[in-house]
Amino acid sequence: SETALAFRVADLTLAEAGRHQIRLAENEMPGLMSLREEFGPTQPLKGARIAGSLHMTVQTAVLIETLVALGAKVRWASCNIFSTQDEAAAAVAVGPTGSVQSPAGVPVFAWKGETLEEYWWCTERIFDWSTEARAAGESWTGPNLILDDGSDATLLVHKGVEFERSGAVPATQPSDSHEYSVILDLLRTTVSATPTRWGVVAKELLGVTEETTTGVHRLYELAAAGNLLFPAINVNDSVTKSKFDNKYGIRHSLLDGLNRATDTLIGGKVVFVVGYGDVGKGAAEALRGQGARVIVSEIDPICALQAAMDGFQVARIESVIGQADIFVTTTGNKDVITVEHLLAMKHQAIVSNVGHFDNEIDMAGLESLAGVTKVEIKPQVHEWILPHGRSILILSEGRLMNLGNATGHPSFVMSNSFANQVLAQLELYVRAENYPVGVYVLPKHLDEKVARLHLNALGVELTQLTPEQASYIGVPIAGPYKVNHYRY
Ligand code: NAI
Repeated sequence: SETALAFRVADLTLAEAGRHQIRLAENEMPGLMSLREEFGPTQPLKGARIAGSLHMTVQTAVLIETLVALGAKVRWASCNIFSTQDEAAAAVAVGPTGSVQSPAGVPVFAWKGETLEEYWWCTERIFDWSTEARAAGESWTGPNLILDDGSDATLLVHKGVEFERSGAVPATQPSDSHEYSVILDLLRTTVSATPTRWGVVAKELLGVTEETTTGVHRLYELAAAGNLLFPAINVNDSVTKSKFDNKYGIRHSLLDGLNRATDTLIGGKVVFVVGYGDVGKGAAEALRGQGARVIVSEIDPICALQAAMDGFQVARIESVIGQADIFVTTTGNKDVITVEHLLAMKHQAIVSNVGHFDNEIDMAGLESLAGVTKVEIKPQVHEWILPHGRSILILSEGRLMNLGNATGHPSFVMSNSFANQVLAQLELYVRAENYPVGVYVLPKHLDEKVARLHLNALGVELTQLTPEQASYIGVPIAGPYKVNHYRY
């Protein structure tokens, strides 16, 4: 029945445990909590229907409940098959005032360990607002906003529209993942059931706010080709997102993932980090902090020089492959670790990825290698015995290991990212006229606002400009303090 399909989580009885964790997280998320205080009374998101596709963790639960506190209606799925914290999903479905017997929260479609088919089914569910429409006596079909991480939800709408318009299977783009065939199967079903479904969904959308580097890359690609269907705010490139979550977040959650997965001592080991962007910088710093000998690889001379001047050896993977005990990929690119590389590694080398998709390591190539055996050590930790007799350990089947083997970034840093998300949703909903179809970053005063909301909690004493100083350096006393091209 419709009620039975109102949400799908692993186990609703985990809701109480989830609620305790959410309560503790709220105290660590001052950005989100002050936005609730500031905007709760005026309900600026009243009428907003948000389809969220973002790791269903405890921190995301605080984000969801903030959107609801500002007046929005929300449906949610995770953006990764392994990243859901089942207790958080249960607590969100039950809601702060509901009970296991009569859940009164948000329709969540997420559990840890989805199959790819289930994953895309969940993503499709966040676009079906028929229950809400009937309850409200309205005629809309889907959401009017997407909150995305990695752009899968946005991709589904775009592929659906393309399918409907051309009547043929959409062509593959360079950034499409190998999951494409699963999406196509889903679209075949939905388009044959309702031939204009995705076109209507796209028309109702005011836009999308996108969380991560990989998703933003997909959006700029769509915009450049003239195919973007609605406005997008690039949340990733708020300074208080990418220079904090990507860097300081990974500095915490990478080690958490490695420790929970294998408990191997990191000190003294050789760790090879592929990529020295924001995520790579955080990863390399954390590993060095544990006493590892870190070697970095880069394709960009600027980042390679940064890594060298930060004191890391910079080398091509082929030059040092036999020396490394642990590999961490952080690029958002594909095939940065190939099957040939895997075959050349030390016995029981640990191979892990924190970039968005699992094609960073050639998992498909490994799976089809003749004579390879996969042994499950525990969920999300697999030993692959290679034809030459040595084995390697692969975490989270090559997917984001900080979310698959651990619980992702901690609350305080996610409060920064998610405060940007809330402000971006507000911009698209309240000031839609400022955002014709295109990709935007939030104005700098909002970026500075997000940082400001987190200072008190850390006991930061901010210095104030005198009027004379302000005019000497040519900035307003209340900010913004930097020109847009300043890089921090
Ligand atoms: P970025 O663009 O700052 O850094 C990526 C770096 O990889 C660049 O410097 C690039 O030159 C380098 N690179 C590309 N191909 C390479 C190759 N073949 N070999 C060596 N280096 C190569 O991007 P950012 O923000 O660091 O994000 C990286 C990935 O991590 C993205 O997929 C992003 O979505 C994801 N991400 C994951 C998080 C997590 O919690 N696991 C959090 C934030 C982002």
